[in-house]
Amino acid sequence: MNKPPLICIKFITKSYTSGNTIRRVLTSVSDDICKGECIALLGQSGSGKSTLLNLVSGMDKPDSGQILIDGVDITTLSEHQRTLFRRRHIGFIYQFFNLIPTLNIMENILLPLELNKKNNKEQALELLDEVGLLNRKNDFPDRLSGGEQQRVAIIRALVHDPLIILADEPTGNLDKKTGRAMLDIMERLIRKRNKNLILVTHSTEVSKFADRLLLLEEGKLVKQNRETRC
Ligand SMILES: Nc1ncnc2c1ncn2[C@@H]1O[C@H](COP(=O)(O)OP(=O)(O)O)[C@@H](O)[C@H]1O
Ligand SMILES: [Mg+2]
Repeated sequence: MNKPPLICIKFITKSYTSGNTIRRVLTSVSDDICKGECIALLGQSGSGKSTLLNLVSGMDKPDSGQILIDGVDITTLSEHQRTLFRRRHIGFIYQFFNLIPTLNIMENILLPLELNKKNNKEQALELLDEVGLLNRKNDFPDRLSGGEQQRVAIIRALVHDPLIILADEPTGNLDKKTGRAMLDIMERLIRKRNKNLILVTHSTEVSKFADRLLLLEEGKLVKQNRETRC
């Protein structure tokens, strides 16, 4: 028997209003994403990739449509409930790393655990060891290179054992070689734990390891590769 998809996106629309103009960014976005699937989300700058990630994470609400994650329709939750849901079930990796400069590496990584009232320091140390940065745990982010900071960001996104990792152009601020290495590490860690990934990228090269490519065009998703069957 087929399992229900982990993420169901149903007829999402989203517009932004500034002054008298309405910009319709997503006009009808639908997709089913299976458990453990790694998706690359492509599209021109301004096509709505970050907007879609913000909707899936519950950071923002669509104008209409539904987003079900593990059976929960997050579009019906209050802002507070969405915050709790995001904290528990989503991990984020950003283009500019977004580590907290006043906290050392270990403290940065422990933050998602503390927010979820979890105490799993062992897991944090294991992950740091897995990416070769255990000896940097007491350093502050500004002592690390961009590639090293992004490796820390991968761990921070995974440490609280979320359902889904969302990565918004994570190689956008790294040189090609460092970006490639970062993606290899990210893929290894995510696949090993059977997590879902939605990776936003400009580059078709970056999207190579994805199970499926989705292209945002004129507010809609153009599906590439196979149709989803969970
Ligand atoms: N908070 C916002 N207010 C108004 N317009 C926005 C906002 N966020 C994004 N937009 C607009 O929506 C469009 C899609 O943006 P975005 O999702 O960031 O695209 P992408 O990530 O694909 O580059 C752009 O035209 C952008 O200017
Ligand atoms: Mg963007």
